[in-house]
Amino acid sequence: MLVTKESLALYGGSPVRDKPLPVMHPGATYFDDAETNAVLEVLKAQSPYRFYGPRFLNVSGKFEAEFREYVGTRYSLALTSGTAALHTALVALGVGRGDEVIIPTYAWVACPSAVVAAGATPVLADVDESLTLDPADVRRRITNRTKAIMAVHIRGVPADLDKLAAIASEYQILLLEDVAQCGGGSYHGKKLGSIGEAGSFSFQLNKVISAGEGGAIATNEQEIFERALMFHDTGTPYRGLEEKELRYSIKPFPGVNYRANEISSAILRIQLSKLDTIVAKIRQTKGKIKKGISGVSGIQFRKLPDPEGEIGVGLVFFTETREKAMLFKDALMAENIRTPSGSYPGVVYEPGRQDGHVFMHWGHLLPGVERVSDHYSQSLDLLGRAVHIDISPLDGEQEINDIIEGVRKVAAVVL
Ligand SMILES: Cc1ncc(COP(=O)(O)O)c(C=O)c1O
Repeated sequence: MLVTKESLALYGGSPVRDKPLPVMHPGATYFDDAETNAVLEVLKAQSPYRFYGPRFLNVSGKFEAEFREYVGTRYSLALTSGTAALHTALVALGVGRGDEVIIPTYAWVACPSAVVAAGATPVLADVDESLTLDPADVRRRITNRTKAIMAVHIRGVPADLDKLAAIASEYQILLLEDVAQCGGGSYHGKKLGSIGEAGSFSFQLNKVISAGEGGAIATNEQEIFERALMFHDTGTPYRGLEEKELRYSIKPFPGVNYRANEISSAILRIQLSKLDTIVAKIRQTKGKIKKGISGVSGIQFRKLPDPEGEIGVGLVFFTETREKAMLFKDALMAENIRTPSGSYPGVVYEPGRQDGHVFMHWGHLLPGVERVSDHYSQSLDLLGRAVHIDISPLDGEQEINDIIEGVRKVAAVVL
């Protein structure tokens, strides 16, 4: 098919699709009777609270056991959100006043927020072509106040954990993995969240499994677990360990209330059993799309530190210039290659658009960051040329073909 400028929907041609792509709420769109029945069981037992109840089922305890088994760590703790999980993990790692935590320029605003909530200072490091932490830049940002590196496995892609773990061990600092956007992913065969000293997870609606809200942490270290347990439960020096007949080996300290509830845990037990199925579907879909557009010239796919470990929730490629990326995105939107929220396809960093994923919008947490943006020119260049397409587990053969056709059609004119 000959593609002319006029054939693009952006310039008056007919679009590849007449309606948007399916929604991108992976876990929730897999809800069925199993989640409903699990919730009803908790309600019928009149026991929605995680530590006791009239006919206590200990669903949260069961979820934690299944979750740590899945991730492959000795301990896990269910929490109210991914932000709560990051905050709890940081406190559990001993991060506090006077400490610095290195975070990537592309993450979610919850990442610097959690560092500030823990009393510490977020320090930015550039991302590389994987859009995760650039290990070389992490090394440059280390000071004698650096306490931890927060590796964010963003948009389904694991960060380069071999290099980051090596740097952490060389400087005797801690490695925290934020797995919120990469649940079910792995790195060199090990599940994400089990490689750093602690892993943090979110089960908010956009995540690969969800209870609407929710979070968890995973760790192999008893002291980190005990500190997390105490912090998340108002600094209570006794609860939570009783079921395992353990006693705290740490001194009590103040905490917050980030306790999970049994209804969310009931949903998450079922969702966890579906996680591998959902990830397999998304990965397969992404593979087909990537293959279908692999010959297109003028696009460069995002680097994958471990292609076997990604979960495929987003397809990202770089165009040669920022202007081409913006035009590419506008043209794809016009072809109806977008989810109903309209947010994707997007260019990861669009200067005028409010978006908590990019450091330029974190000025309230890193005062003045907008004025030193030239310190992060590598990030701004990459993020500004990165076109992103959501990959939903609900995409069928028609959607897959439409996305391929849309990208090829737009590329023929725009690049
Ligand atoms: C990378 C990342 N970290 C942390 C969070 C925080 O999770 P929550 O919304 O559950 O607090 C999110 C998502 O929302 C996220 O995308």
